[in-house]
Amino acid sequence: MKTVTVKHPTGSYPIYLGEDVLSQTGPLLAEFGYSGRCAVLTNEIVGRYYAGPLCDSLSQAGFTPVRIDLPDGEQHKTLDTVAGVYPHLVEAKLDRRSPIIALGGGVLGDTAGYVAASFLRGVPLVQIPTTLLAMVDSSVGGKTGVDLPQGKNLVGAFKQPEMVIVDPNVLQSLPDAEIKAGLAEVVKHGIIDSPELFETLEANSQPNSTPSPISNLPPLTWLLHEAIMVKVRVVQEDPFEQGRRAVLNLGHTFGHAFEQVSHYQIRHGEGVAMGTACAARLAARRGYCDAPTTGRIIALLDRLHMPSQPPDYPAADILAAMTTDKKRQGNTLRFILPRAIGDVDIFKDIPQQDVVAVLA
Ligand SMILES: NC(=O)c1ccc[n+]([C@@H]2O[C@H](COP(=O)([O-])OP(=O)(O)OC[C@H]3O[C@@H](n4cnc5c(N)ncnc54)[C@H](O)[C@@H]3O)[C@@H](O)[C@H]2O)c1
Ligand SMILES: [Zn+2]
Repeated sequence: MKTVTVKHPTGSYPIYLGEDVLSQTGPLLAEFGYSGRCAVLTNEIVGRYYAGPLCDSLSQAGFTPVRIDLPDGEQHKTLDTVAGVYPHLVEAKLDRRSPIIALGGGVLGDTAGYVAASFLRGVPLVQIPTTLLAMVDSSVGGKTGVDLPQGKNLVGAFKQPEMVIVDPNVLQSLPDAEIKAGLAEVVKHGIIDSPELFETLEANSQPNSTPSPISNLPPLTWLLHEAIMVKVRVVQEDPFEQGRRAVLNLGHTFGHAFEQVSHYQIRHGEGVAMGTACAARLAARRGYCDAPTTGRIIALLDRLHMPSQPPDYPAADILAAMTTDKKRQGNTLRFILPRAIGDVDIFKDIPQQDVVAVLA
């Protein structure tokens, strides 16, 4: 088992990473001085596989876990779902020292994290991410929250977990499409701050390889560690998202617009892959990076069987979608663009005609 320590303004927490670490949750939590009641928030799909082993580990370590299933899917990442959980926590007699354990993907982790941030003005939170995206991205950094009808992630709180438990074995049940969605973020992390991660992905993925993404990857524990370290370095530098943390949005200004114009037929991971390729083209066009760097990014996405061409919608519609992105500042569009593999920057005031040219 590897342990990564994440520092934040009011303390630190460990990320425990290793095969079968899920079944160590009980003893690890007991070592932290917790005991008694706790709540396992999960959903029916994830719970079917992993709630049993998790609750066994907790019970054997002296805890009394209560399992609460939340509805699955982004459409349920809402205040209604949050409100539906509180009565169960009261009924189970949880107190301020009773941990909430979030077992699931990013939707579950964001929602359960917000429950933990708000119930009794805050109870301890343990994140057990079960998708690749949640492992390398959403479970680390303390952002929790839910969507409103007006937009994604509009209500939330920073809630640092007590610990994060990353068990690569749980990815065995994850559908290929979800692996690919997470892989888009892994490639993104390589471009942001890990040439080694990017190069290893290049070395492992062969041209014309099988379309099964997972058989094409370096060892999972290594890959997860490298990708998580990128996120850790970024959030440690900017815990409250006031500057540098924006680099995590590489590919997302394009990507969110693609998702939106397609009415979410294009999924987030696909949008990020297309968006990362577009960011690389825009960077080369503006002279921020060289053409071979852009070529490598596009080639890696192709080898991993991820889309690298912008979708076929009018550029005007895509631009309009970009200007409603919540991450814009004032009326200028911000782009995160690569200078090299492992080096990205925030660029403001990119001329629209360059964006249009990249979309063409
Ligand atoms: N808080 C942050 O910093 C942050 C960062 C990035 C993304 N996010 C959020 O993350 C969410 C996306 O998360 P996601 O991509 O993990 O999607 P998700 O949580 O919807 O999970 C995808 C699907 O896979 C299922 N699943 C999860 N683990 C499984 C497993 N091991 N085996 C089988 N099925 C499994 C889920 O139940 C779901 O049906 C978005 O809401 C996004 O806003 C948050
Ligand atoms: Zn993303």
